[in-house]
Amino acid sequence: MKRPPNEILKFPHQELEETLQEQQGMTFKFKKVKGRFIHTFCAGQLISKIGLSSQVVVGSELKDFLPLELAEYKESYYSEAWQGKEGIIYEGELEGVFYVASLRPIKRFGKVIEVIASCVDITERKKAEEELRATKELLESLIENSVDGICVTDIAGKVIRVNLAFEKIYGWLEEELIGKPVPICSLVSRNGLNRIYDQLQNGMRVLSFETTEQRKDGEMIDVSLTVSPIKDAGGTVVAMTSISRDISERKRSEDFYRKADKLNVVGQLAAGLAHEIRNPLTSLRGFLQLMRSDSNKNSEYCGIMLSEVARISAIVNEFLLIAKPHASNFQKNNMASILHSVVTLLEAQAALKNIQIELEIEEGFPLVQSSEMEIKQVFVNILKNAIEAMPAGGIIRIVSAIQKDNILIRFIDQGIGIDKQFFPRLGEPFFTTKDEGTGLGLMMCYKIIDDHKGSINISSVIGQGTTFDVLLPCKA
Ligand SMILES: Nc1ncnc2c1ncn2[C@@H]1O[C@H](COP(=O)(O)OP(=O)(O)O)[C@@H](O)[C@H]1O
Ligand SMILES: [Mg+2]
Repeated sequence: MKRPPNEILKFPHQELEETLQEQQGMTFKFKKVKGRFIHTFCAGQLISKIGLSSQVVVGSELKDFLPLELAEYKESYYSEAWQGKEGIIYEGELEGVFYVASLRPIKRFGKVIEVIASCVDITERKKAEEELRATKELLESLIENSVDGICVTDIAGKVIRVNLAFEKIYGWLEEELIGKPVPICSLVSRNGLNRIYDQLQNGMRVLSFETTEQRKDGEMIDVSLTVSPIKDAGGTVVAMTSISRDISERKRSEDFYRKADKLNVVGQLAAGLAHEIRNPLTSLRGFLQLMRSDSNKNSEYCGIMLSEVARISAIVNEFLLIAKPHASNFQKNNMASILHSVVTLLEAQAALKNIQIELEIEEGFPLVQSSEMEIKQVFVNILKNAIEAMPAGGIIRIVSAIQKDNILIRFIDQGIGIDKQFFPRLGEPFFTTKDEGTGLGLMMCYKIIDDHKGSINISSVIGQGTTFDVLLPCKA
């Protein structure tokens, strides 16, 4: 490479000064004269930004243009540099502008003859730092004040931190957990830590489920867990957070409603029961009287009597099934036979109101993984509502169909219908339009069908009737 000619390399004095003047930052020099640090040079764009000018600075000491306290603070750095110390750096702020100054002593024959300082504007960086700090503080307060228990673990499942709510929910203290495997067992055992990571790595944002967990003191609590990954800039999962919400209280009230609804259904059924049993009992008595007077026809009467007795026992059995406390017990159940028994239970009551229940459902539909008792309760509630909606009598049709992986059971009544304005409130606890209603029936239906991962759809025309669709998954 050819060297440039010499005259270009010669840098005239004036040009040097202009360059210093134009620089973004600021360069200044000072020396000690009669015990005072007097500035001898000052140039750069930063000077005006901090509200000074080289005329003000040059020839003056710090006290002349800065508040005394600030001047003394800076002078302590000045004097260190004057003593020959290298690498002195301090930060300053004037007029909202932050800068960092670094001082370098210039020595001749081992003695400091002046100090040169260069300053850089760091306002932007300070702002970013401040924002970061504020964000961190906000995040910190969100974590600490959250009513949900938050636990952050590394990818090996070891606890990095937990918040106050987590300590409260589970009874563990943060210091007992840090560095140890996360104590929420179902998180690990139910899904397998690796599977959770796989799922989260494969683009799944969060994983939510309800489960039971054990507290430190051994008590079991119902929680809803949400697990989400924390990824680095490259998208690799580096940690995980789990958020736990204590839903024991909610579960308890659900339980309460469930029982209240059951009591209600049982009470209403009991009233109907007396009626239903009285009819076959009356006919039994009649036949017994006949038998006493005409023994020739005994075997014929016996057949009818046996079927009446069978009917009584069917009704009583159904009633006991619903009234008896039971744990929900999921099994593969035949919806057709469940519907048959529910219809048996309500038929007589319906007939009293001139209502006929038509069950057009074939046997042989796929079995549905379900709790028989709970599904019965749903069908009873829906049918009772239909009966109550038909004061003038009519027909209630129950039909069914297979829709992809679901079985659809449709209840069609010819009742008074439901006003559009009430639609959003259906299923709300205690919402009722009846004088004697409890408003718990539909809520239980929604809850139970939801537990079965199914759905309920309602359509209605005022004065014509209402259709309830119950959709239940029936995948093999
Ligand atoms: N088949 C139906 N026809 C008309 N209205 C209905 C029907 N099913 C439910 N409803 C409406 O929904 C409300 C809530 O029903 P539910 O939760 O069973 O409580 P309840 O029967 O005690 O009133 C009823 O009061 C009624 O207004
Ligand atoms: Mg009801």
